[in-house]
Amino acid sequence: MKQFNQILFLIVIVVPTVIAVKGVDLSASFNNFSCIKNAGYQFAIVRGYMSYGAADTVGLQNLRNAKAAGLIGDAYFFPCKGKKTASAQVSEFESVFTSEYGTVWIDVEYNPSTGCGWSTSDYSGNCQFLQDIVRELGNRGRLVGIYASQYQWSTIMGSASSCAYFTSKPLWYAHYDNSPSFSDYSKYSFGGWSTPSIKQYQGDTTLCNVGVDLNFY
Ligand SMILES: *[C@@H]1O[C@H](CO)[C@@H](O)[C@H](O)[C@H]1NC(C)=O
Repeated sequence: MKQFNQILFLIVIVVPTVIAVKGVDLSASFNNFSCIKNAGYQFAIVRGYMSYGAADTVGLQNLRNAKAAGLIGDAYFFPCKGKKTASAQVSEFESVFTSEYGTVWIDVEYNPSTGCGWSTSDYSGNCQFLQDIVRELGNRGRLVGIYASQYQWSTIMGSASSCAYFTSKPLWYAHYDNSPSFSDYSKYSFGGWSTPSIKQYQGDTTLCNVGVDLNFY
């Protein structure tokens, strides 16, 4: 009984510290990830594919720098719907990033680049295009997740509940309440996911002299 109580005690004190893993995502060229690590962050998500339709070689260098500093390295993929097929974009990304990252997160948000915007009327086409990107990466054996917010998903897919075809993939959602906690998710859910995997809780801030967003899981 004494041992049992000690085990319970350990579980109670260990779990809250273990689950709060914080990280950054960024697009600017950067080479001081040890500063970010020393500030208490453990992962970096670099830009892998740019909104106008090209792989990001600066992002690859960022990924290598982040991993060399001891951070976990993922990439995000901002697809361009309109200029190139899903297959062509994934091929371009693959030829630059190969298998150097952990998970590639597909960025589902307003795309301002000319000729690359999500359709404002063809929601099923937007959903199909996202499925194509995910399938192409899956065919290459990559780990794929989805990044979006409830607002962006609703705007691009037609409603919060639409296009619920990715619930077997991890969700990285954005809600800038400055709170590294998932407790808000039930109010900001979308796409059929009941549980998120990562939250982007603060956007457009500066850490170690570089522009980043802050995330947690
Ligand atoms: C990295 O950041 C640390 C902490 O801010 C700073 O002391 C150091 O000079 C920086 N290194 C480079 C190469 O910028």
